Amino acid sequence: MDMLVSIYGPTYLAKSDYYCHTNHDNVESHMEIAHSVQQIKPSYIREILAAASDENVISLAGGLPDEQTFPIHLMKPAIESLPTMRDVFQYGPTPGYEPLIAHLTQSYQLPETHRVITCTGSQQGLDLIARAYVNPKDTIAMEAPCYLGAMQVFGLAQANLVTISQDEFGPNISELEQCFKTESPKMFYAVPDFHNPTGVCWSLEKRHQVAALCMKYNVVFIEDAPYRELRFSGDALALVSDFCPDHSIVLRSLSKVASPGLRFGTVSGKQSYLEPLVKVKQGADLHSSTPVQAIILGLLQHPEFPSHLKAIRAVYQARHATLVQALQTYLPDGCTIIPTEGGMFVWVTLPTCDTYQLAHELLANKVAVVPSPVFYPASSQATSAIRLNFTNAAPEDLITAVQRIARVLKSNLTKI
Ligand SMILES: Cc1ncc(COP(=O)(O)O)c(C=O)c1O
Repeated sequence: MDMLVSIYGPTYLAKSDYYCHTNHDNVESHMEIAHSVQQIKPSYIREILAAASDENVISLAGGLPDEQTFPIHLMKPAIESLPTMRDVFQYGPTPGYEPLIAHLTQSYQLPETHRVITCTGSQQGLDLIARAYVNPKDTIAMEAPCYLGAMQVFGLAQANLVTISQDEFGPNISELEQCFKTESPKMFYAVPDFHNPTGVCWSLEKRHQVAALCMKYNVVFIEDAPYRELRFSGDALALVSDFCPDHSIVLRSLSKVASPGLRFGTVSGKQSYLEPLVKVKQGADLHSSTPVQAIILGLLQHPEFPSHLKAIRAVYQARHATLVQALQTYLPDGCTIIPTEGGMFVWVTLPTCDTYQLAHELLANKVAVVPSPVFYPASSQATSAIRLNFTNAAPEDLITAVQRIARVLKSNLTKI
C-alpha cells in the first residue's frame, strides 16, 4: 500500500489501484501502471481547487491570476489577423515560431551562445529538462518548501530529491554548499523571485553566493521565474543566472502576467543545454501551438503591454496589502507572516498543529487554503504553515477569509 495525499489528508492506495482496468464484452484486461507513475501523489491542489469551486467557499488555495486582468483586448488585433496568416496553421519548427523566437532573443538580451525555445507552459519546460537530463536516482537539490509541480516532474523522473532550508532572504548557503560537496547534485532547482509557496525573494547577496557555488561545484542552476514580473515594490534584482550564465537554464512563463490558459512558457540557456530539450520536445508534441505563439508575439509587441503589467501589479499590490493588514489584525499570537514585495502568495507559519486537519476544518468553514506538508518531498520535514493566495479573491473576500481562518485557529489553539 502506498500513501496518497487526498484533500482531507493521507489516504492509502490499494494494490489494485496500480492497474488500469478495461472491461469489454466481459473480458477483463489489466495494464500495470509504470513504476514511475505509481509513486506519484495526485496533486492535492487540483483536488482542493475542485472542492473550492463551491461558490460559497472563498478560495485562497490556487495560484490563479484574476481573470479580469487577462489582457484579451491586447490580443484582439493578433487574433483578428490570424485568418490572413495561413502559415501559422501549418506544422512549425520545434524550438518555436521564428518571429517570436527572434523577439524573445532580443528582449531577454541573450548572449550569442544562448538560445530560447517556446513550450506549452513553463511546466512543460521543467518536464523537458527532467526527461533530457535526469536518470533514476540522480540527485536534484531544491529548496524546502518547494513548488509542487517541480516535485511532481522530478518525482516522475525518479530523481533523488534533497532539500535546502530557506529563510526570508533565500536558501541557507552553508547547507547548500554542504549539499553540493557531499551529494554532488546534477542541478539545483529554485524559484528566486517571489517563491511558490513562501513568497520569498532572494537577496542580491544570496544570488551572487548561489551562482558562485554552482560554478565552483559544477551544478546547473534551474531558475524558475514565473512571478518575476509581479514585483509591486522594491527594486528588481538580477536573475541568479546572470551571474552564472553558462551554468544555468531559465524558465519563464506568461501564465501569471497574461493568461495561464494560453499555456505559454520559455526555456533559455546555452545552446548545448537546449539541444537535448528540443529532441525531447519533438517526441512529446512536435511543437507548441503556432497560432497561440503568433497571438503571444502580438501581445508582447502591443504598445500597451507595459501599461498592462503596471496595472496588474497595482491590483495585486492592493490585495496583498489588504490581506497582510487583515492577517496582522485578526491572527492569534504565535502566527507569523513572511513579508514580500510581489508574487501571489503569503506564507503564514503557525504554532505546531495538524495542518491537513486545519485545512479540512477551514474548508468546512468555507475557506480553502493549502497546508504546508504538500510542499515538501517528505511531509515530515514540514513546519506548520499555510499558503494563502491573494490574487484571485476580491479585497472584501480576503478580509472575510482571514476572519474565518482566525476564528478556526483560535478555537483550535485553545484545544492544544
Ligand atoms: C514556480 C512555478 N513554476 C512553474 C509553474 C507553471 O507555470 P506554467 O503555467 O507556465 O506552466 C508554476 C505555476 O503555478 C509555478 O508556481
